[in-house]
Amino acid sequence: MYNSKIIGLGKYVPDNVVTNNDLSKMMDTNDAWIQERTGIKERRWVKEGSGDTTATMGVKAAKIAIERAGIDKDDIDFIVFATLSPDMYFPGPGVQVQHALGIKTVGALDVRNQCSGFVYALSVADNFIKTGMYKNILVIGSELHSHGLDKTTRGRSVSVIFGDGAGAAVLTREENNSKGILSTHLHSEGEHAEELVLIAPGLGKRWVNDILKDNDPNDESYFPYMNGQFVFKNAVVRFSEVIMEGLIKNNLQVDAIDMLIPHQANLRIAQFIQKKFKLNDDQVFNNIQKYGNTTAASIPIALTEAWEEGKIKEGDTVVLAAFGSGFTWGSVIIKW
Ligand code: ACO
Repeated sequence: MYNSKIIGLGKYVPDNVVTNNDLSKMMDTNDAWIQERTGIKERRWVKEGSGDTTATMGVKAAKIAIERAGIDKDDIDFIVFATLSPDMYFPGPGVQVQHALGIKTVGALDVRNQCSGFVYALSVADNFIKTGMYKNILVIGSELHSHGLDKTTRGRSVSVIFGDGAGAAVLTREENNSKGILSTHLHSEGEHAEELVLIAPGLGKRWVNDILKDNDPNDESYFPYMNGQFVFKNAVVRFSEVIMEGLIKNNLQVDAIDMLIPHQANLRIAQFIQKKFKLNDDQVFNNIQKYGNTTAASIPIALTEAWEEGKIKEGDTVVLAAFGSGFTWGSVIIKW
């Protein structure tokens, strides 16, 4: 059995900055409410006509990650792409990346685990590498939320939170079993599937012909629904559990954490976890203030920024943790 390790990281966010004050011109909201509840100051929203999509942003992040990995694109053996906002209902964006990068006909897998998407994707890649099936895997998390949000007062409790962007990582085989990804931990609780949900264009509840016939402009099933407080309460519990699960599995104490990168769901959730684990400010990385919640892209964007800022060094114990729609949650313990 091998380990896998991250050898290249990249991120891409659209240029268009949307501040909380910009949002207050679209809906009944304000900077104070958004900052107090979420910590978010601004987010990036793709500008119409810019050409940015979930797939193209993923490609831009991937190109940087591949270059930094110092490998050729043709050395990539497999692609894993996590998103909840694919360009097309099917096929998923993995194959678009394979085509856009001009990579030979390797497999491309799409992961549908929302805010936990990147953690799930890393776990899949790690295990393919562990077994020796593949050597180099490109893992991407990318989201274009802004085209699918209800930007009226009706949708304000959801739409102020989400931002667009992409992050990517290149994983390779590591022969030293005490380095790289040490373990991954995945969970779900489908009982709460509809507490954070986008019903349409799923076909379980309605038939396409009925949707077309109704053509109802007030049909909210095309906008995300979130039971915010319920999600918040579950998130803080599950984040804590799954971080502890990873530490215990590797015989590590909380003080061994050099860097915790939580999914950027809400700054208040990250602060709660930081306080609970008694971590210093330099042991937790947050950038939700600048980008909002970019779902599957949030961890790879944050991981890339932390690494670019020199906050992750060789030998560090890095913990990634996520919670989101499903409910799904998970953690990754890495010896950098
Ligand atoms: N601006 C101003 N007022 C608002 C806004 C807004 N944008 N949104 C809601 N309000 C109002 C509400 O109408 C309500 O008013 P009322 O008291 O008169 O009825 C009041 O503010 C409080 O609303 P709540 O929804 O109760 O606010 P809450 O404190 O719960 O904060 C939030 C909402 C920020 C969404 C929080 O619940 C949260 O962060 N939840 C967790 C989100 C999360 O972790 N998601 C997981 C990842 S996402 C994924 O997987 C796709």
